[in-house]
Amino acid sequence: MSTPPATTTTDTSATAPRPKPDNHVIVIFGITGDLARRKILPGLYHLAVAGLMPEKYRVVGCARPSSKMTDEEFRVYAFNAVSEFASDKPSGKEWEDFAACLTAAIDPDDGPTGLSAVVGNAEAAIGGAVRRLYHLAIPPDAMHDVIRLLGAKGLNQNARVICEKPFGTDLASAQKLNGDLEQFFDESQIFRIDHFLGKESIDNILALRFANELFEPLWRRGHVRYVQIDVPETLSIEGRGAFYEETGAFRDMVVTHLFQVLGILAMEQPTSMAAKPLRNEVNKVFESLRILDPVTVLRGQYVGYLDEPGVAQDSDTETFIALRAWVDNSRWMGVPFYLRTGKCLAESRQIITIGLREPVMEIFPDQKDGNHPDADRLIIDFKDPGSIHADFLVKQPGPEMHLGQARMNFYYRDSFQEKNNLEAYERLLLEVMLGNQALFTRSDGIERLWEVAAPLLERPRPIEYYKKGSWGPPSVADVVAPHRWTLPE
Ligand code: BG6
Repeated sequence: MSTPPATTTTDTSATAPRPKPDNHVIVIFGITGDLARRKILPGLYHLAVAGLMPEKYRVVGCARPSSKMTDEEFRVYAFNAVSEFASDKPSGKEWEDFAACLTAAIDPDDGPTGLSAVVGNAEAAIGGAVRRLYHLAIPPDAMHDVIRLLGAKGLNQNARVICEKPFGTDLASAQKLNGDLEQFFDESQIFRIDHFLGKESIDNILALRFANELFEPLWRRGHVRYVQIDVPETLSIEGRGAFYEETGAFRDMVVTHLFQVLGILAMEQPTSMAAKPLRNEVNKVFESLRILDPVTVLRGQYVGYLDEPGVAQDSDTETFIALRAWVDNSRWMGVPFYLRTGKCLAESRQIITIGLREPVMEIFPDQKDGNHPDADRLIIDFKDPGSIHADFLVKQPGPEMHLGQARMNFYYRDSFQEKNNLEAYERLLLEVMLGNQALFTRSDGIERLWEVAAPLLERPRPIEYYKKGSWGPPSVADVVAPHRWTLPE
């Protein structure tokens, strides 16, 4: 007999009308890269299968001359990418219709297979008013040339641009990139993407906090002892040695994904879910973030990293990072936000813990002497499909008043129809096509995060080493002392 879901929910999503994006030409720069193969092409195909793509569209794969493809080669390449990474395997009419919309171009822009000609042909084939969408799935350094090319050729008209993370590598480079973009695009056309903001369970934090009166009154320093955002990964750098040497765990994960999650967790209630009020509130959190003190940031490297292809023999790039962040405002003053992430760790998890304070009066004998550490907490597991767990103390049945640990669980997979699921990239690509910037970072927000990070980038603490399959360097416990990491559970 199967166990019933722990929580009862009503799925009303089927009745909501879905807006349809305008007709689009979507150009992917970096088409031969990992991201295009793993996420963008499979994501666009899933949107097509789900009926969420525009009525008419073309997808242009743009590559450097050294890896240029014909249209036919691009379709085979896309077929392989979708077969390997999409939940919907490519087949039948659905695939044929999608494949017919794929076309290849080369950058730099010249001749009939150059970008201007290919975009022009795609627009003519669609007919009428067509929007342009450029996805810059390329490293920050490579973005400048592409942005200038788009501007010089007038391809920036009627266009939106997606910039991949990390957005720059420090404050100066982020400012430069913002400056370049602003020459040719208005801020309303620029979408700085961070796929953690497209995860259902991260978006759900807004619903959890602001659609209920159960949690929000507690969501502040008077009740919260600490917050943890913990994203350990079992995977290694997966052959991305050259990329990782430039990036490291802090730029790859913290200044991007983990800080964005922190913004959503710590923000005040926006006046609505529209982009402007929502991003205003997240940016206020970033403004209140205390500048990082490098001495308190633990940087780790797994033993064996130096043997990875593309890694320097004396590399001090961190593959692990753990730190305390502080949000110095009236809601969060004095509450530590513990952040941890790293490669080759013991488990792949993505969890947030809101650790609650102990009650002022300890009227139960069991409560004394720290018998129940971390008894009272909320855990949000945001690895898709995601779940939420509330830990609390209850009376154990029996004649005596003995306290016992209890847990209340909500699992997305048991409660809502999976068919409605959009993977993070899919959701965000759709939002860009609809022109909704709510889940994208603003230029001032991103520059503030680099400002917060500056001392760490300038004066990093020496690396500490850890074994593959562990939870990081042994001193990781010190980062959260006197508290404890929720993981391992
Ligand atoms: C990417 C990082 O942005 O996010 C990777 O570059 C990381 O290093 C990945 O593994 C984690 O995201 P997810 O949501 O796919 O687990």
